[in-house]
Amino acid sequence: MKHLLKLLDLTEGEIIDILNLADQLKYEKKHNIAHRHLEGKSLGMIFQKSSTRTRVSFETGMYQLGGQALFLSNRDLQIGRGEPVEDTAKVLSRYLDGIMIRTFEQKEVEDLAKYGSIPIINGLTDFAHPCQVLADLMTIREYKGEFDNLKLTFIGDGNNMANSLIVGCLKVGMRVAIACPKTHMPSAEVLEFAKAYKDKLFVTDDVKEACKDADVLYTDVWASMGQEGEAEERKKAFAGFQINKEALSVAKKEAMVLHCLPAHRGEEITADVMDEHPEIFDEAENRLHAQKAVLVKLMAN
Ligand code: CP
Ligand code: NVA
Repeated sequence: MKHLLKLLDLTEGEIIDILNLADQLKYEKKHNIAHRHLEGKSLGMIFQKSSTRTRVSFETGMYQLGGQALFLSNRDLQIGRGEPVEDTAKVLSRYLDGIMIRTFEQKEVEDLAKYGSIPIINGLTDFAHPCQVLADLMTIREYKGEFDNLKLTFIGDGNNMANSLIVGCLKVGMRVAIACPKTHMPSAEVLEFAKAYKDKLFVTDDVKEACKDADVLYTDVWASMGQEGEAEERKKAFAGFQINKEALSVAKKEAMVLHCLPAHRGEEITADVMDEHPEIFDEAENRLHAQKAVLVKLMAN
């Protein structure tokens, strides 16, 4: 594995290796065992969109691994003024040991990898959010002990989260149900990928049907970053696509609730469900451990 551009590129074995290392790094952190695998290394972090979790977890993660992280806002980089990705990739490869990028188009991330000569990590695009799903899988395994045949139900927009959850969960042996309006389906590329998994993916616009016997309920915002202008029309399109008591009532009794955050209480999830499912914050913590594992896999000597 040379980059983390999207989970479609990873084998099941590579995903499990990352999760195992993430568990180990989490254990070591808890027991104050130093793990300075990236001493002297620098990670550039290019942000063309806002972030709380991704920025802080990558930055502290690099520090804990003995390296450093540079926050590179789009506003300050020449890339924001039109310098080609190709040139940016070639130049940054001369200074840095890896780049994490959060942007709009998946192609920009793929191009950085194509033209640069250092590992590239996708910190979210409109198409995918692989780092988040690695943390999600880590959290599911922590709570459930295994993946085999567990059912994850995603409710809401067929967006970057839905895309990455479908790929990640199917690859590790889980089943996935997506409840989304017919107008907001996951990407065609991901649905094509899922065909090989036959009935392990179920897509419907019936929330209750999708939630039946689920082991994990997952949701995400109705309007993603970059879609703020569509917020009002999206509120109409997604009305009812919510994790609430009713959705939980048909899931398994011990079902987990996950959310990549930030959450909009009263829209995609009710406040009471948020309050009763603190595993959402274990999930947020696991961003740190899962990404440290990715950094070590990609950047350690
Ligand atoms: N879940 C997630 O990626 O959060 P941020 O947007 O805060 O980084
Ligand atoms: N779908 C959301 C995820 C945020 C972590 C977005 O792209 O804004």
